[in-house]
Amino acid sequence: ASSARAQAAAFDFEPIDIATDYDIHLPEGYQWKPLVRWGDALFSEAEGAYSPETGVSVEMSDKVFGENTDGMELFEVDGRQVIAVNSEYVNPKINLPADSEGTPKSADEVRMLQNFQGVSVMEVADTGNGYEVVKDSPLNRRIHHNTPMTMDGPAAGSTLVQTNADPEGLSPLGTLNNCGSGKTLWGTYLTCEENFNGYFGTTGAAVETDGFSRYGIGGEGRYAYEKFDARFDISKEPNEPHRHGWIVEIDPSNPDSTPVKHTALGRFKHENAAMTQAADGRVVVYMGDDERGEFMYKYVSNGTWAEGQPTDGLLSDGTLYVAKFHDDQTGEWLALTPESTGMEMADMLVHARMAGSKLGATTMDRPEWIAVNPLKPEAYCALTNNKNRGVKPNAGGDETPVGGPNPRETNNFGQIVRWRPEGEDHGATGFTWDLYVMAGNPTVYDNAYAGSDNVTPGNMFNSPDGMVFDSKGTLWIQTDGNYSNEGEFEGQGNNQMLAGNTETGEIARFMTGPYGCEVTGLCWSADRKTAFVGIQHPGGSWPDGEGKPRSSIIAVWREDGATVG
Ligand code: FEO
Ligand code: CA
Ligand code: CA
Ligand code: CA
Repeated sequence: ASSARAQAAAFDFEPIDIATDYDIHLPEGYQWKPLVRWGDALFSEAEGAYSPETGVSVEMSDKVFGENTDGMELFEVDGRQVIAVNSEYVNPKINLPADSEGTPKSADEVRMLQNFQGVSVMEVADTGNGYEVVKDSPLNRRIHHNTPMTMDGPAAGSTLVQTNADPEGLSPLGTLNNCGSGKTLWGTYLTCEENFNGYFGTTGAAVETDGFSRYGIGGEGRYAYEKFDARFDISKEPNEPHRHGWIVEIDPSNPDSTPVKHTALGRFKHENAAMTQAADGRVVVYMGDDERGEFMYKYVSNGTWAEGQPTDGLLSDGTLYVAKFHDDQTGEWLALTPESTGMEMADMLVHARMAGSKLGATTMDRPEWIAVNPLKPEAYCALTNNKNRGVKPNAGGDETPVGGPNPRETNNFGQIVRWRPEGEDHGATGFTWDLYVMAGNPTVYDNAYAGSDNVTPGNMFNSPDGMVFDSKGTLWIQTDGNYSNEGEFEGQGNNQMLAGNTETGEIARFMTGPYGCEVTGLCWSADRKTAFVGIQHPGGSWPDGEGKPRSSIIAVWREDGATVG
């Protein structure tokens, strides 16, 4: 712990040791409690809907907080605090009746799983007893796999997104596998569709296309949706998968608003969406495609924005770029256009991965969250790990040689790449890059797998994933990695949240999660005195101590009432 203490100088908390138990641990002087758990009511009619033995009924499944909490953002709406938060996926063995054995046996059981995923919008308030969800708030809303949406941008309405149910290709239903998050400059929520491919299957002939194989579509659906909901059967609706894998904008201030899928930002396995601005006021969105050997992207709007100005077209009219890193620590954003890729515009956006390959984009070690430093012109991407780096090409994609910001073969630890745009302008196409940290284990290895100099026995971790800057410029790093605490992961314990000083490189462990979980999603109350942290797929019976494990958002605060971070 002494090396952990030495790192503490830059932070106003005492770093903590690893943990391997089924609890949350925080530094001295910090407290926590659950804010909301899977199955908790967002509306009073669902009060008591959750049972530790049987979970939640299908009738109540769209009136409770969804499962497997992920990215989230807090908004202030007319003096109310509202959290919009993703529910990424479901554990059918936890959600479905025991006799289903983890596979839905009816359309109702499919609907239950569909309802537990998507997005929850919910008002929260400090009742004097810490933060709670405000039941029946007019802003509370559940968005799930059947919620009506619209699409905009160049691929909206194209033949690739037309289906039997929606021949115009403008009205998709639902948002799938909502992973990380983003917040627009104008106060709306961005939810990011990640492993959407896994929801599709076939009850008829196999359907094989280059696009399906590059995106991993064509096997059996992971939840058997296709057996009870023809929309997910690619032998009947081969274009339905093209309607997912997008960035979706939701207005948390209007519960009647229709979410919009923005095709201009490209279709891939979106992790999160980090919005900032170019020097001239154009809107910039950095995005990662979380798959071994896939790419990093940047969208730049054609129009500009300033406070109070209209936002029309900002996320539907612009240019998508893909990142190329050079070994000399420079890099460039390559514009994806019909001219540069030889692809028709809608096809190029629907199959952004294939467009990126045509330009020779750099295959990355699974790009997870991207975070933009609010205090200086630079951004960070968590490259979580890549067991295939240098060993196998990406499935359906490109070779993945070792090099640049992906310097290790069979990379089980991950690293965080940082780039600084040319001319301190996020609108520029050139950048320089370095590695902020290369995770590793210095007690097991004395080579590159020991990690970079800012990794010590006192702060080590693996598989950085969630990443959020606070307003003071601290980079919060959340992990989704190996929690066996054995072999090359010995001494790293459960998944965790760490604070990074981006000036000195120092990193200090702030929180450890319960065994089995990943830590993902972070936002703050308006006064910054409470941090909300997501605990996804916990093990045991966390947090209730009995019954099923329940993915939850926890509230974290300081006993002395100061801000967190
Ligand atoms: Fe849903 Fe890449 O994490
Ligand atoms: Ca993630
Ligand atoms: Ca992950
Ligand atoms: Ca996850």
